[in-house]
Amino acid sequence: MYSDLIPRFQIRQNATLLAIESSCDETAAAVVRNGREILSSEIISSCKEHIRFGGVVPEIASRAHTSAISLATEKAIANAGISLNDLDGVCVTYGAGLLGALLVGVSYAKSLAYALSVPLVPVSHIRGHLAAAYLCDDTLEPPFVSLLASGGHTAIILVDADYSYRVLGSTMDDAVGESFDKVARVLGLEYPGGPNVEKLAREGKNVVPMPKMLKGVGGYSFSYSGLKTAVINYVHHAEQTGEEYSRADVACSFQHAAIDILAEKALEACEQSGYRTLTVGGGVAANGYLRETLTNMCTDKSVKLVLPPKVLCTDNAAMIGAEGYLQYRRGNFSDLSLNASARVGLG
Ligand code: KG4
Ligand code: ZN
Repeated sequence: MYSDLIPRFQIRQNATLLAIESSCDETAAAVVRNGREILSSEIISSCKEHIRFGGVVPEIASRAHTSAISLATEKAIANAGISLNDLDGVCVTYGAGLLGALLVGVSYAKSLAYALSVPLVPVSHIRGHLAAAYLCDDTLEPPFVSLLASGGHTAIILVDADYSYRVLGSTMDDAVGESFDKVARVLGLEYPGGPNVEKLAREGKNVVPMPKMLKGVGGYSFSYSGLKTAVINYVHHAEQTGEEYSRADVACSFQHAAIDILAEKALEACEQSGYRTLTVGGGVAANGYLRETLTNMCTDKSVKLVLPPKVLCTDNAAMIGAEGYLQYRRGNFSDLSLNASARVGLG
């Protein structure tokens, strides 16, 4: 039985791990060595299939994963220049995300781990986003401060020397990525919202008044629902009264309000904790304005910024391999009863 093998698996320092990610609309597979070196990273996206529905349709995403997962994995193995027998383990996102979508990756990873008699490593998607930083800086070791800015989460976390997490604060309502997506809809922009808001914002000015976003108050908590409502009210009011308004100015002003607070609180956490390194993870970390703002602020305050390239900020499997390696080293293996979870905690 597979479960009898688990206590006997050897944990290697030099581990080559396959990682599989299928939590939303990207089917991704990657081969990562020692949690640091990307040997291959493949992404097959069903994004275009969701555009006409204005957001990800879970059923369509699940079917797309089922079609794409073998191809993504085969390409990842081939492009890494290895064979399946060279793998020391299979890591897989088990949550958070869309249940049906997650189940495709989980089932596939289970079959592969069973067939190869290697450890099956369950990985949290959220921790994966944070672990992307290890893939772009060989020397990165905790302690450091992490800013998580994704579609489902917004938080500031202290990562201590033993790799444990202390969540300093998180959002009390919407996540920052979610607010980009909702504002995109109000402005009539296509899915995916975030990148389209960013594009439109480049043509506008920061002149539309926005809420203060818990600036200087609320500790490390965030609140994005008031910002979203302010944008909705502004647009509806202008439309009802027939007033001319600039969608680009709204996008730009919203983006400033949504992003400035992230940068401000992240740098405050560095100041207060005394940790002089800041890492950033999650889809919103692909936002050019956030990247520029953090780069400038970290330079001013002499904080080392570890900012993964954009492809490692949005969903990918390499980040799952990076976090998977940390779990693998601890022997956090699962048996074949592993299930998917729509929600997982931050800790
Ligand atoms: O981190 P992610 O995969 O979400 C979760 O795992 O929860 O990223 C998706 C989120 C979406 O809300 C998307 O709109 C946002 O990241 N996003 C962006 C940009 N690219 C992706 N938001 C703002 N600017 C971008 N360039
Ligand atoms: Zn994600």
